[in-house]
Amino acid sequence: MIKNKIIVTGGCGYIGSHTVVELIENNYEVVILDNLSNSTEETLERIFKITGIKPTFIHIDLKDSIATNAIFSKHKDTKAVINFASHKAVGESVLKPVMYYKNNLYSLVYFSFLRCSNN
Ligand SMILES: NC(=O)c1ccc[n+]([C@@H]2O[C@H](COP(=O)([O-])OP(=O)(O)OC[C@H]3O[C@@H](n4cnc5c(N)ncnc54)[C@H](O)[C@@H]3O)[C@@H](O)[C@H]2O)c1
Repeated sequence: MIKNKIIVTGGCGYIGSHTVVELIENNYEVVILDNLSNSTEETLERIFKITGIKPTFIHIDLKDSIATNAIFSKHKDTKAVINFASHKAVGESVLKPVMYYKNNLYSLVYFSFLRCSNN
């Protein structure tokens, strides 16, 4: 049976990895995009222990628009993208708003645009 492919950004992080487990257990093919800025590849082993499946992992910083473009072109058959790739510390976001703007908003707007233009 052909599985629907879902990209999970930030899929090695806390919420993302739990979402990946749920998706795999509901028969989706998952591709994780993560720059491991707040996670490690060990998460993939834990996902494998729970589900018996190691999802495709792509180490990428979504602020890198060229690399992001290449991945979205390669995975045109993706049915949906679930975005968890972000910084999320409230105090730090007040101290470094531009860093948060670039990481959380710029990359989201960019790959949302790619997703629409690739379809
Ligand atoms: N943790 C919670 O209780 C909670 C509750 C509600 C909403 N959220 C939201 O869910 C999202 C994820 O939260 P979390 O707790 O899983 O955080 P997390 O830090 O555990 O996971 C975020 C993941 O995104 C990755 N990442 C960050 N910037 C990236 C980039 N530019 N390119 C690629 N990967 C990048 C990190 O390496 C990490 O693996 C955040 O937007 C957060 O505000 C979290």
